[in-house]
Amino acid sequence: MDLKQLKAFIAIAELRSFSAAAKVTGISQPSLSRLLKQLETDMNVDLIDRYHRPLQLTTAGLFFYDKIDALLTELDAITHMTQRLSAPSKGLNIGFVPSVLYGLLPEVIATFKQQNADTEVNLKDISSYQQIEALKSGEIDVGFGRFAHQDPWIQQILLRHERYLVALPKAHPLAEVKEQRLLDLANSRLILYHQTHLPGLINTDSIAADMSTSARDKRTKQTPKPEAASVTDSVTEPLLYLFAQHGITPLRTSKVSDLQVALGLVAAGEGITLVPASLQVMRTKQISYQRLIHENVTSPIYLHTLKDFIHPKVNDLLTAIYEIYEQRGITYRRQQFV
Ligand code: BEZ
Repeated sequence: MDLKQLKAFIAIAELRSFSAAAKVTGISQPSLSRLLKQLETDMNVDLIDRYHRPLQLTTAGLFFYDKIDALLTELDAITHMTQRLSAPSKGLNIGFVPSVLYGLLPEVIATFKQQNADTEVNLKDISSYQQIEALKSGEIDVGFGRFAHQDPWIQQILLRHERYLVALPKAHPLAEVKEQRLLDLANSRLILYHQTHLPGLINTDSIAADMSTSARDKRTKQTPKPEAASVTDSVTEPLLYLFAQHGITPLRTSKVSDLQVALGLVAAGEGITLVPASLQVMRTKQISYQRLIHENVTSPIYLHTLKDFIHPKVNDLLTAIYEIYEQRGITYRRQQFV
């Protein structure tokens, strides 16, 4: 079995056609066919059912495709990493999710640049999950995101938890209520904007239920069901998860493409949403931002990097972040990548 055979098999399996695979790979059809036959003979297994059009994978072929595809993706990542180890980039390529741009990111970058004038910094806005691929491919060296990743290639430091605020139209009946309860918001249309979903079962550390509030919820009309804990396991939309943690399902929701659009709709009186506190400077003429009584309804901020390749400037970046936290009196736990 060799790499050429495996790549031929993957192309045929994905495109379900020898001619399409030949076009994409630049390998002639007879050669592709020969490579697949050699692989099947080596393994003594039929991987592709050639009698159907489009071609179909056999049950064994489907299993093999799944495993080999993951293996080849990993091989690609290893190749990229090895190339970077031999010639590390001089600049620091930083990925970030848009919501951290409204918080401390500009100040962090300015401080880092002041202290590391010789390092070129490149910033790239990129969603949490795309950051994993971008780290593996070398497109970015570090990423700021709001979700923990359970990927064997990635390590992360939790920088801090930022509280969620409710964003309500100024004309909303609850707009002036200073301490809001999720339960009271359940009748308003909730505008969802996250593109990233939580994995099925997540560490509830950052958004664990506020037990005193849950007890209060129980006394009101939307009583949490006994099976509420298991219900949250299947809720993967981040804002709905926060409500589900308190046994609450918002009556109406709308889904939009990003945070800016969500705040635009709130400003237009179309509904309410929850945003990290640093967003409270946006559209303040039309939007009222209020605190939630639930202390643990927070949005974490993580710094991600590869486990096996830590850019030499990453710990300087951390130093700049902690310096700013000190100046602003922000609570954090100092950590370092090793
Ligand atoms: C923060 O708001 O804590 C933060 C945002 C971006 C980068 C680092 C820290």
